[in-house]
Amino acid sequence: MGILNPVLSRYWDVPQSWTLENYEKRDGYQAARKALGTPAAELIDAAKHSGLRGRGGAGFPTGMKWGFLPPDDGKPRYLVVNADESEPGTCKDVPLMMATPHYLIEGMIITSYAINCHHAFIYLRGEVVHVYRRLMQAVQEAYSAGYLGSGIFGTGFDLDITVHAGAGAYICGEETALLSSLEGRRGQPRLKPPFPAVAGLYARPTVVNNVETISQVAPIFLHGPDWFASMGTERSKGVGFFSLSGHVARPGQYEAPYGITMRELLDIAGGIRAGHELKFWTPGGSSTPIFTAEHLDVPLDYEGVAGAGSMLGTRALQVFDETVSVVKAVARWIDFYAHESCGKCTPCREGTYWLRQVLTRLVHGQGQPGDVDKLLDIAGQIAGRSFCALGDAASTPVSSAIKHFRSEFEQALTTPVDVSFPPERSVLFAKEGVSS
Ligand SMILES: Cc1cc2nc3c(=O)[nH]c(=O)nc-3n(C[C@H](O)[C@H](O)[C@H](O)COP(=O)(O)O)c2cc1C
Ligand code: SF4
Repeated sequence: MGILNPVLSRYWDVPQSWTLENYEKRDGYQAARKALGTPAAELIDAAKHSGLRGRGGAGFPTGMKWGFLPPDDGKPRYLVVNADESEPGTCKDVPLMMATPHYLIEGMIITSYAINCHHAFIYLRGEVVHVYRRLMQAVQEAYSAGYLGSGIFGTGFDLDITVHAGAGAYICGEETALLSSLEGRRGQPRLKPPFPAVAGLYARPTVVNNVETISQVAPIFLHGPDWFASMGTERSKGVGFFSLSGHVARPGQYEAPYGITMRELLDIAGGIRAGHELKFWTPGGSSTPIFTAEHLDVPLDYEGVAGAGSMLGTRALQVFDETVSVVKAVARWIDFYAHESCGKCTPCREGTYWLRQVLTRLVHGQGQPGDVDKLLDIAGQIAGRSFCALGDAASTPVSSAIKHFRSEFEQALTTPVDVSFPPERSVLFAKEGVSS
């Protein structure tokens, strides 16, 4: 277990780890007290120095994002925490908010002070009602203790936090769609520029950051930016959650420095489930090109994963063994993207629909000649031509799966995947003389 380095998950096994009392017993709110006595510009510099990069998927440098806000004009500026977490396989923000919500609130106080924001928001996916209750309770505790509201910690700094539950749409995790939804409009992406830093919530300068990003802020200011920068790799600093799900012996959240490999994580997680072998995996959720066993030693940092042809995304490591049909898995993901496409632009709206049609007939072994190339053609028409990154996300599982498993797609032209998979079943069918 030596490679792991729990920071945010350090106290997850403490009974009632979510209460203010237990958080304060473990240095809770010390960083915020210290930060509120520091000039805001120094906090932004410290965030830059720590090397913290956004944990919501794109890995944008956090301190730089805060520094993009235009000079203060005395009118409102906002911090919005993105707690939508809807990417298939991504499951880190929910446990983090459930186990230790005060990391997020403390981070929001420090960040709001750094950017001079007096009203911050948490935009939460509406279905996770238990998390909504937990956050509301934590916010209430912070108000009662004088850590939110007017004159925080006896300083002249005021901050209110609103927890907003969205209606549950993947596109509302895209930052500009999120802002529109928070304003009460339809959750569809906006044209950038202007970026949220210039014209965000209610057309005012806004910082949008992921839950894990903001939760890292308090430990960084408590232990110092050098401490954070000493972990991870040269350009991907610090620790992060690596969420293992699927066919592993011990799925769960593994908090480790960036640069750890999937082989090391699988060793810690007890390996692939007994009697089976790894077939493919996603390094960062369903939106990132799939990897296979040949990628087990790729360093899981932004540069390493990109160099091997994929993206680190949200570090949602979904593991599939040989019993899984890659055609069926991709078809399932595309069902999701077709359902969640907001319909604003044609390549994504039409493209995901047609990907779904073709993949559905392959799943049933009713393909038409040329269908595999047709999938590649449609994916190519979506990628890079869509209004927001959801379109690119929908195309990558298709093109990467065909790259690694083309013969399986060819086989599905005539053989239903439920006949070919799991492999034992295809042997049985062959023995009994059952054809597709
Ligand atoms: C379709 C789509 C869904 C997204 N969903 C999320 C999400 O659930 N949570 C999140 O933090 N970022 C999500 N993002 C990324 C956000 O747009 C944004 O980059 C992020 O919230 C910035 O925070 P960070 O800099 O702390 O990573 C999504 C992006 C796209 C295109
Ligand atoms: S890419 Fe898809 S989700 Fe994004 S704006 Fe276009 S239709 Fe909407």
